[in-house]
Amino acid sequence: MSDNGFKFSTDRQGIVSNACLPLDNEPDIISLRPETLSEYIGQRETTETLQIAIEAAKQRGDALDHVLLHGPPGLGKTTLAHILANEMGGKLVVTSGPALEKGGDLIGMLTHLGAGDVFFIDEIHRLPKNVEELLYPAMEDFSIDFVFDKGLNARSHRFRLKQYVLVGATTRVGLLSSPLRHRFGIFRSLEFYDVDDLETIVRRSAALLQLTIDSEGARELATRSRGTPRIANRLLKRVRDYAQIRGDGRIDKQAVTDALVLEGVDALGLTPLDRRYLQTVISYYHGGPVGIEAVAATLQEETDTLVDVVEPYLLKTGLIMRTSSGRKASEAAFAHLGFGRKS
Ligand code: ADE
Repeated sequence: MSDNGFKFSTDRQGIVSNACLPLDNEPDIISLRPETLSEYIGQRETTETLQIAIEAAKQRGDALDHVLLHGPPGLGKTTLAHILANEMGGKLVVTSGPALEKGGDLIGMLTHLGAGDVFFIDEIHRLPKNVEELLYPAMEDFSIDFVFDKGLNARSHRFRLKQYVLVGATTRVGLLSSPLRHRFGIFRSLEFYDVDDLETIVRRSAALLQLTIDSEGARELATRSRGTPRIANRLLKRVRDYAQIRGDGRIDKQAVTDALVLEGVDALGLTPLDRRYLQTVISYYHGGPVGIEAVAATLQEETDTLVDVVEPYLLKTGLIMRTSSGRKASEAAFAHLGFGRKS
């Protein structure tokens, strides 16, 4: 593993690609990932859309339309790309918008794709403009135009690509240009999971990890997982460690509650950063409205982290509101942080 916390991924022929996998995409967590749509829990409308599209494309002997997945981190965008590759019988090639710095990077990856392969571009909204423009014909006509030499000697050659499937993932669909957005035939937004689905995911993961967890323990963990399977699986591992060292290895509600105190996760599943965000809006800016840049400056955090990672769950649970004049904390946020009634 490189010391920046990323691993190089290897494709089926053993060729090291220039794609990097973040730590939480390591094989360890991949093993908790469902491999087929029938194993996938939650996001029913999305999985049904994909199931129908896959079956129809297979029946016609066609390529699947390109798929754009939108939603906060950890809700299953990468998992669905893995599943699509499995279901289409192709291989998965993973990269991300910021990793594709030059046109040549993209061309190199596209020309190695086979029919039915899935080409996954994470953070597709961060693709450089010149690279994005190369992608248009590669998506629409499965071709790319190479230009050799310059000026009077310029010649162009059209290279035909195999019928691959592009899966784009983004936390910010609003930042995608409309020519790019319109080249995707399937567009789905992933939603936060409800507690019932998360509980089922926790039980499934516990079974795969051969852990003993009771219903109250699974429910408590699901309730505190911020609507996000990636968080549920991460916390399950921390609770497993806690139960192993401080208890008899069995996971019950008490073990979950005690272990999550150490993780800084509260009864609503909020993390220390979530609480610092709310605390800043409430005590520093009197509950708002306040601009996101001001909150980011006070917290010394990147605005993108707050917008992509922190705010979606606080908005979904009604703890903050976005108004035309800025972010506001709700009554529920004041009560949760123990500030009494909003004046
Ligand atoms: N593990 C992580 N996400 C999952 C999901 N949606 N269904 C089943 N297992 C999962």
